[in-house]
Amino acid sequence: MVLALLACDVPAGPDRGRAPARVADDQPVADDQLTVLDSTFEGDVSGWEGLGDATVRVSGDDAHGGSRSLLVTDRAEPWHGATAGVTGLLTPGTDHTVHAWVRLGDGEPGTELQLTLEHRPGDGADPAYQHVDSATVTADGWTDLGGTVTAPTGTGEVRLYVESATSLADFLVDDVTVTRRAEPVETDIPALRDVLADDFPVGVAVGPQDLVGRPAELVARHFSSLTPENALKPVSVQPAEGTFTFDAADTVLDFAAAHGMGVYGHTLVWHRSTPDWFFTGADGEPLTDSPQDRSVLLARLEAHMRGIADHLRERYGDDQPVWAWDVVNEAVDPRQDDGLRRNEWYRVLGPGYVADAFRLARDVFGDDVLLLINDYDTDSPDRRRVLLDLVERLRADGVPVDGVGHQLHLRLGADVGRIDDTLDEFAALGVRQAVTELDVALSRTSTEELGSTPPERLDEQRALYAELTTVLRAHAADLTSLSFWGLYDTRSWLRTWRMERPYEAPLLFDDDLQAKPAFWGVVDGAG
Ligand code: XIL
Repeated sequence: MVLALLACDVPAGPDRGRAPARVADDQPVADDQLTVLDSTFEGDVSGWEGLGDATVRVSGDDAHGGSRSLLVTDRAEPWHGATAGVTGLLTPGTDHTVHAWVRLGDGEPGTELQLTLEHRPGDGADPAYQHVDSATVTADGWTDLGGTVTAPTGTGEVRLYVESATSLADFLVDDVTVTRRAEPVETDIPALRDVLADDFPVGVAVGPQDLVGRPAELVARHFSSLTPENALKPVSVQPAEGTFTFDAADTVLDFAAAHGMGVYGHTLVWHRSTPDWFFTGADGEPLTDSPQDRSVLLARLEAHMRGIADHLRERYGDDQPVWAWDVVNEAVDPRQDDGLRRNEWYRVLGPGYVADAFRLARDVFGDDVLLLINDYDTDSPDRRRVLLDLVERLRADGVPVDGVGHQLHLRLGADVGRIDDTLDEFAALGVRQAVTELDVALSRTSTEELGSTPPERLDEQRALYAELTTVLRAHAADLTSLSFWGLYDTRSWLRTWRMERPYEAPLLFDDDLQAKPAFWGVVDGAG
């Protein structure tokens, strides 16, 4: 294994003032770049962990950009610090520019911190380290650690480290970005939104980093609706009670507004990405199901929704771009008698929490916004049955559930006939439907680890996308939209979720933003 360390063109020292490609603060990303990692720590730790004994948490004490950063404490050795897995985000053999802004904890004397890329080869060989940058860092201001690295080739795990040479000082990390050069966007292929213009709007889940440089061109060309991938989740919007942060969400909302696109809101009530404070009493203890605690949680949910609605009204007046909300996400569990997943909402509010959330959402967001219940594997017979029953019951009780979101996280071999049946059964209930998070994994099982991206699987994926598109178009009258969960393969959640999968390629555009066979599958299916 050869690890190349390219000469950093980055001058050393805390006063370095050049304009690297970045999105997390106000410097523009160069037009020919794309951003594969953008950790702003405005919401949660976004995949960062303590290295060695160190612990990390998001802190509002200071920030380089926005209002929060990652605080690293409990360092027992100089190398203990902060780390994030980036295996699936880097393109092997390709140059990447990495930046991290760092600051020492209050009162700590200046010391050197360093940014490193580690590769642990899959064959058990010794790890190899690429030094990205190091600099003397103080408690008085933010220092940029940055440089260029060539991503390792071969199997194994790749991680970013922020650590020190000699000191055990607490430190803060913020606005970590990894960027690389992007190929120009193809202008001689049809635009997806034109291809499906007679059927439904075509959406894509994006973060702020997808709305600058070449990815932004790709979004603007092909899509007519945006779903903020993470920016409207509770932990992103209200990381601490009463502290609303809309920077990331506004980037998505503004882009949509500027391009005449709608925004699909995701999500209000979920068991994940929801900060603990929602479920913690003033005494620091978990809320119980007592009447008092139930009203505390309901009041918090209402305040959360109103905070968002007020913000939208202030920023956009009557023209706010959010046309739908996933009000409740992933509530179904067919193993439970009542079909509802046991989560914190359920624990405090009981099974009525779903109805409560929809009634509140209608009250707060009004009649013009579509309210959906969103779930995964809605085509699997047991989950489908439970969701059908739930939606039927809610609507019979007059709960304002307008529709059902089918995530459609599929993999090769998916049974499209079953999806067809599912759409039929929900149509019979008279509800609207949306495909909210479509992707098609190349891995055949949740544990399969691909060592490459096999061309024959890309062809199989094309055929599946084609078959699915045909079925979805046949249901166009029931479908409000078709949204893909990510813009191009590097940005797919499946590159990192459950495990690092550098060769997973579930989307329509490849690592270089170019149309894959999957893209042509959608075109095939559109006839
Ligand atoms: C995922 C995002 O894509 C990741 O970036 C994030 O780290 C975790 O959440 N179902 C959902 C989405 O409803 O919110 C999830 O998104 C993917 C599964």
